[in-house]
Amino acid sequence: MGILVWLWNFALEMFFRSKLIVGLDIGSHTIKLAKLRRYRSGRVELVAFETDKLPPETIVDGRIFNFDAVVKCIRGLARKVGVEGADCAISISDHSVIIKKINIPKMTMEELEGCIEWEAEQYIPFDIKDINVDVQILNPDAGQDTMDVLLVAGKKDIVRDYKSVAEEAGLRPVVVDADTFACQNAFWLNYGFPLNEVVALVNVGDSEINISVVSNSITVFTRNISMGGSFLTEEIMKGLNVSWEDAEKHKTEGDDTLSSSAVFREVQKISGCVSETLVTEIRHSLDFFAATTINADISRIYLSGGAAQMSAFIRAMERRLIVPVELINPWRNIVIDLCRFDMCQLERMSPLATVAVGLAMRFNGDRKAKESGVRINLAHQERNARRSRRPWRFHRLPWSVSLWRYRLTLAKD
Ligand SMILES: Nc1ncnc2c1ncn2[C@@H]1O[C@H](COP(=O)(O)OP(=O)(O)OP(=O)(O)O)[C@@H](O)[C@H]1O
Ligand SMILES: [Mg+2]
Repeated sequence: MGILVWLWNFALEMFFRSKLIVGLDIGSHTIKLAKLRRYRSGRVELVAFETDKLPPETIVDGRIFNFDAVVKCIRGLARKVGVEGADCAISISDHSVIIKKINIPKMTMEELEGCIEWEAEQYIPFDIKDINVDVQILNPDAGQDTMDVLLVAGKKDIVRDYKSVAEEAGLRPVVVDADTFACQNAFWLNYGFPLNEVVALVNVGDSEINISVVSNSITVFTRNISMGGSFLTEEIMKGLNVSWEDAEKHKTEGDDTLSSSAVFREVQKISGCVSETLVTEIRHSLDFFAATTINADISRIYLSGGAAQMSAFIRAMERRLIVPVELINPWRNIVIDLCRFDMCQLERMSPLATVAVGLAMRFNGDRKAKESGVRINLAHQERNARRSRRPWRFHRLPWSVSLWRYRLTLAKD
């Protein structure tokens, strides 16, 4: 019987092997690895999901300080899941990413890619040599002669660091995404983006909060706040005079172990104050969005990220934002084999899993395959490979030459 099941699984793997790659979310508190399988019917199945915590101060403000700890953690996860040497999608924290929505003259993706670095210089406040840029055409019909484009730039040294830890751990990072877009892709897989509805996705990690607002499946606003669950850990450390490890325990296990003690009440009090501060920051961002956008009525806020589990935080969000708030369920549309996975355990981990699930929906070359969702790749591999095959190239023009003239010149030639 066992051999038959094994043969059946093997046949499935051979015939329906999807191109999806491993999703690796290198968070500053926890590293998560997810592997999904997509069947031809579109059904998506969970193959593996594992997490491991990093020691404190390993990654600070999106910058890796302890490379060995990160490599060891990723290598351990890859071994546990059996994906050593596999292609993977990673994401860099939104600390190191600049996201702009720009409106430019209509052109093909090929043309856009040819001139995007020159175009990016006008919008990104960094030297073009120090950033990796990618683009996605959002709305080809934004105007008669124009289109909306999502322009994303990631700091080159950060991309290199994140890629190098994955490589050293034995994986092949072929896609470099940003946390915000990975969240959007996980949301799209599980909920779809309802037409004529504006939803906000808020990912509350350890060191940052990523906010994105999506309207009619188009990203209309993104914002990053440099604050997260570590703020609560630090406040508990100060308030109770305890170590980082103990503060983490009070934070995550308090309900079960300390419910009647004075310590529990103190943790609850601190958690309430920290939640108010986080919600105030989120509210400022959403108020700014509302003040600068037409049709900005957000119908629902979806939360993800480990720190979104703080019950005081969810209550404060609902009270202060007066919009329905719910935690994203990243397993909602994913088939899970209950013989292989403990559903209670997966549900407990679900707020942490969103970014990894979004990354696990990526595959090498998906930008060209016109897949739904945001398909940004800051790895530069695809674009450079295509360029090197071309016998010709668009050359960079002086900044003063407008894109219109650039196109006209080409047309005259
Ligand atoms: N049950 C819980 N209650 C409250 N906080 C929790 C709980 N479980 C985890 N956390 C907190 O969630 C945070 C980790 O969440 P997550 O894994 O989403 O962050 P990360 O991806 O590592 O960080 P970042 O995205 O900011 O780099 C930590 O601050 C952790 O203490
Ligand atoms: Mg994170």
